Amino acid sequence: MFTIIVAENYDEASHEAMKLVRDVLRKERPVLGLTVGSTPIGLYREMIEEYQSGNLSYKNVRTWNLDEYIGLDSSHPQSCHTYMKEKLFDHVDIPQENIHMPNGNAEDPAAECERYEASLKDVTIDLQILGLGTDGHIGFNEPGTSFETLTHVAELTEQTRYDNAGYFGGNIDLVPKQAISMGLATIMRARSIVVIATGESKANAIYNMIKGPMKSRCPASILQSHPRLTVIADKAAAQRILF
Ligand code: GLP
Repeated sequence: MFTIIVAENYDEASHEAMKLVRDVLRKERPVLGLTVGSTPIGLYREMIEEYQSGNLSYKNVRTWNLDEYIGLDSSHPQSCHTYMKEKLFDHVDIPQENIHMPNGNAEDPAAECERYEASLKDVTIDLQILGLGTDGHIGFNEPGTSFETLTHVAELTEQTRYDNAGYFGGNIDLVPKQAISMGLATIMRARSIVVIATGESKANAIYNMIKGPMKSRCPASILQSHPRLTVIADKAAAQRILF
């Protein structure tokens, strides 16, 4: 079962996502699953605005992020850590100890994956926010990833490294080849999930996610079996599912 919201444009998509976040924040100890990428920036901006205008506080919120590049120090300008600080954490009141992210610079990445998965053992994410890769990946679960995966070391495809090269000055050679990513089974444990996708480049991925067979060649297609999924797309991203 899923709900599809087709937004007029990016800002409206962010606004719709903010409504879901606001709902979850009514809980006493809300847990948010967060992601990086260009897509959630508008949502994070709204979250910051609501905090700065005194409408919302995040002091009881706990967060878990989806992924981090392997080999980048948390202070690296392109790390997911830095992104999250710049785009959200530095501007709101989420206590530092409530923030959870994989350490991409851990000496033993496999052990770090286990530690991260274990940190979620007694936790249910209330709302997992997801973007969508152009190849249908979520987190860094690339095509071919088993639906059973937990937090693991993920190999990035050339497509994903190409898509993300813009953040690395356009130089694909600087984009790490591996990341620590929550697995598909980890993601599916969330109580509710929202996928935000905007722009024409996401039209095929949205189509395969919703209408395609539930196969690992489109990792996001696993979401078809989630009981509480909301897809927020702008018209450009939704073009193949609307007609
Ligand atoms: C990255 C991230 C994903 C993200 C995707 C889409 O590869 N690992 O979590 O959803 O890119 O990014 P964007 O929102 O920039 O299109």
